Amino acid sequence: MNDSATLDESRIRSAGAEPHADAPRARAAERLAGGEFSTVGDVTVPDPIFSCRHVNVYYGEKHAIRDVSIDIARQEVLAMIGPSGCGKSTFLRCLNRMNDTIPSARVTGSILLDGRDIYDRKQDVVQLRARVGMVFQKPNPFPKSIYENVAYGPRIHGLAADRVELDEIVHTSLQRAGLWDEVKDRLSQPATSLSGGQQQRLCIARTIAVNPEVILMDEPCSALDPIATARIEDLIDELRATYAIVIVTHSMQQAARVSQRTAYFHLGSLVEVGPTERIFTNPRHRLTEAYITGRFG
Ligand SMILES: Nc1ncnc2c1ncn2[C@@H]1O[C@H](COP(=O)(O)OP(=O)(O)OP(=O)(O)O)[C@@H](O)[C@H]1O
Ligand SMILES: [Mg+2]
Repeated sequence: MNDSATLDESRIRSAGAEPHADAPRARAAERLAGGEFSTVGDVTVPDPIFSCRHVNVYYGEKHAIRDVSIDIARQEVLAMIGPSGCGKSTFLRCLNRMNDTIPSARVTGSILLDGRDIYDRKQDVVQLRARVGMVFQKPNPFPKSIYENVAYGPRIHGLAADRVELDEIVHTSLQRAGLWDEVKDRLSQPATSLSGGQQQRLCIARTIAVNPEVILMDEPCSALDPIATARIEDLIDELRATYAIVIVTHSMQQAARVSQRTAYFHLGSLVEVGPTERIFTNPRHRLTEAYITGRFG
């Protein structure tokens, strides 16, 4: 472990928050406690869908995620917030092994999905990514028709016995994503002919077409206008009845609107986690408070 990357006191001081009275001793105590930083708040939930313990991520020498432990509940929206570069996307990508696609990335610790370690050698990664779908910052439809974008996943996973069943999956997925009425007469047109907000809803339809259990969203509205954003937020609220959703967002208003629990990350550590309302009204850690009151970020 490398001391140079522990929480940067000068940055906190310049942000106007109180520094530790005895930072070196506090850091030593944190290391003794088993992690570089002990999270404030209860990281556990009853019957979690995901249970992450002592997760560390390295990009070569760079230690990007530091001993993060957190559970993710079923039928819950968990928001992950924190300053740029604090590791939100990195942690999100651990949950469906998207970091596998980055050669320098190394993940340690344990991440259990429904009690099974997703980093187990026997884990089929294609299967995992169907169970744990992902929606990205920029809508990324395939260069295919609207229909084919949604039909692709069910087809490769053999979810439809025939064309009638496939049509039905495409229909329900588009409907659940709140897009059906806008596209039902133009299913064979290229997905790229849709507006940005429609493309993002198409990407959500594509994700739910393969019956996932969890949907990961990395700043899904940052490329959208306020109206398209409101539609996605409404959709997230509806989807929560069926799926666990983890959303990374730079908008604290969005986190407050859509999530039930919020996790605050800082320099790769999970500083605080708790019910969204409490995090935003009564944060316990001075770093969380400094961030939500806009003193840095
Ligand atoms: N592929 C990579 N190779 C090396 N370092 C990386 C890579 N991806 C991210 N990092 C580093 O890991 C740290 C965490 O990055 P990450 O993208 O997870 O942050 P983030 O919280 O999502 O930031 P943002 O809010 O800007 O999207 C940063 O210091 C970043 O520079
Ligand atoms: Mg990011």
